[in-house]
Amino acid sequence: MPLEHSRIRTFEDYQDAYRRSVENPEQFWADVAEPFTWRRKWSSVLKADLVVGRNEWYGGAKLNITENCLDRHLASRGNKLALIWEPNDPKTRQIRYTYRELHQQVCQFANVLLNNGVEKGDRVCLYMPMIPQLAIAVLACARIGAVHSVIFAGFSSTAIADRVNDAQASVVLTSDGLNRGPKQIPVKRVVDEALESCPSVRRVIVVEHLGWPVHMQEGRDVWYHEEALEAAKTCPAEEMDAEDMLFILYTSGSTGKPKGVVHTTAGYMVWADYTFRNVFQVEENDIYWCTADIGWVTGHSYLLYGPLLNGATTLMFEGVPTYPDAGRFWEVIDKHGVTVFYTAPTAIRSLMATPLDNVLSYSLDSLRILGSVGEPINEEAWHWYHTHVGKERCPVIDTWWQTETGGIMISALAGVSPTKPAHAGQPLPGVQPVLLSQEGQEIEGNDQEGYLAIKAPWPGIIRTTYGDHERAKQTYFGPYPGYYFTGDGARRDENGLYRIIGRVDDVINVSGHRFGTAEIENAINQNPNVVESAVVGYPHDVKGQGIYAFVICREGACDTATDKPHVEASIIETVVAEIGKIAKPDKIQLVSGLPKTRSGKIMRRILRKVAEGETSNIGDVTTLLDPAVVDEIINGRK
Ligand code: PRX
Repeated sequence: MPLEHSRIRTFEDYQDAYRRSVENPEQFWADVAEPFTWRRKWSSVLKADLVVGRNEWYGGAKLNITENCLDRHLASRGNKLALIWEPNDPKTRQIRYTYRELHQQVCQFANVLLNNGVEKGDRVCLYMPMIPQLAIAVLACARIGAVHSVIFAGFSSTAIADRVNDAQASVVLTSDGLNRGPKQIPVKRVVDEALESCPSVRRVIVVEHLGWPVHMQEGRDVWYHEEALEAAKTCPAEEMDAEDMLFILYTSGSTGKPKGVVHTTAGYMVWADYTFRNVFQVEENDIYWCTADIGWVTGHSYLLYGPLLNGATTLMFEGVPTYPDAGRFWEVIDKHGVTVFYTAPTAIRSLMATPLDNVLSYSLDSLRILGSVGEPINEEAWHWYHTHVGKERCPVIDTWWQTETGGIMISALAGVSPTKPAHAGQPLPGVQPVLLSQEGQEIEGNDQEGYLAIKAPWPGIIRTTYGDHERAKQTYFGPYPGYYFTGDGARRDENGLYRIIGRVDDVINVSGHRFGTAEIENAINQNPNVVESAVVGYPHDVKGQGIYAFVICREGACDTATDKPHVEASIIETVVAEIGKIAKPDKIQLVSGLPKTRSGKIMRRILRKVAEGETSNIGDVTTLLDPAVVDEIINGRK
């Protein structure tokens, strides 16, 4: 993409683009989409329905997103670096691919998929480390029209099985093992365990990474490097409809199991491309680094698709911020001359807690823009980032968005629009946020707070939840018909800048990862010692929110003082097995009862107060079935 196309350079440009995007969205988004490689242009730009949640962009168009990420750049950027891979261990080999090399790698992987019977529309699940083959495999799926569904490689085998079964995937891509800081994890073994209950999977393609011996199931499992020997390095791209599924990404909501958020081809492409270019103000020579894992939406839109669509150089990091020491991020920035850096508040907070020398001993001269994503960034972290990393020279942009929005929705455009600590800022062109009262009335004016909703579709809007549109409709379009409901609360300050306050539903955000309280409760309840549980979030210095679980044990399971630590440890084990380490409760309090109303509803408001330590201000408990239980819970608070 020419970097100057639909480019916002000044605040006046922003105001002008915003106005045009609201006055005539179809014209605006037709202009933005013009320079992509289309096999056939669209017959209509937008068919909108925010009541049933059926929104279509660029209907009738034909394209392949990888032609836009790769082929399109070969003439002018063939020898430019597309991907830099920095390994977990700084002493081992980096990998660098130019656009030409990446194109070949993707084509070769695509041929391996084709040779293994993968067809257009098939779902392929990826459970892989942050190695180049993960990026390559995602693009290879898109190349042949298979739907990729990446599962973060920290989820447990049960969580994998849930996702593979929901997507009815026929093929799983994985590796022998993965590195995470000082640890090595046998990924293939986790997949094997999961697949015992996944009858839809007929092929597993294993990428060799650690060189570990793994069990290969005859007739099902093959090594990528063996398959690649037979695979050509050219592969024509499959022609896709604009609204053909590009990927499914599972994310947690307030009820039940994680749902498969579906994004389709053309609208997602335009949105990832446009938001990346304008928010990060990308220039041709940038070295751009997004620290997110490809297992999350940030990795999809801003490690992979957004940068490659723009012909940028994207850096992919296998490791963690604290290995081999807490200066690793800064070392990588200096080593590769990173100019634009995009990370999560939780990483900043964890590094802030280490000696300042870890950051001060690096020059960080190359940096020009800093971004934040995934959770509210508190003022202290914002200032630390701005002062010690950005040396007060780099704008810090706080980007608000969601898996469901496909790309950034509310954010300053770096160096172009105003920033304010802990505020995401103003909406991007095409995004019309409103604050709603609980009853669904729009709250006008500035200096106001309410439920954040979006009043018109944008190209990256969620299309459906896989296999169950009713769920998408109820979750996002049902609460306030005519609006997309975000699930977040927000404040619009006196100048119209948005500050995201946090979730207003039963979703908690732990280190930038979303979990439904019901999802964690369901996991805890699988433990044989447990009768019932209730989970709430509470403020946590590093993670943003921690997980606090109140648990009622089966009679006789924890009668003695020595039973308790044993039961707590076994509850943690259960959650790790059901979901993964990332959902481990930080605190478990064993209780004899939960505060319930007479109709049996748990009053989470009370539990939240206890978890937050606000016990002097617990509020009205007279409607409870058994008010005495509250005192017991307060007294036993962890
Ligand atoms: O609560 C908001 C929070 O993360 C949620 C979306 O989570 P997920 O779909 O996993 O996507 C994360 C990466 C885009 C939102 O509903 N959130 C995300 N970014 C911010 C944020 N909260 C405050 N400020 C942000 N910049």
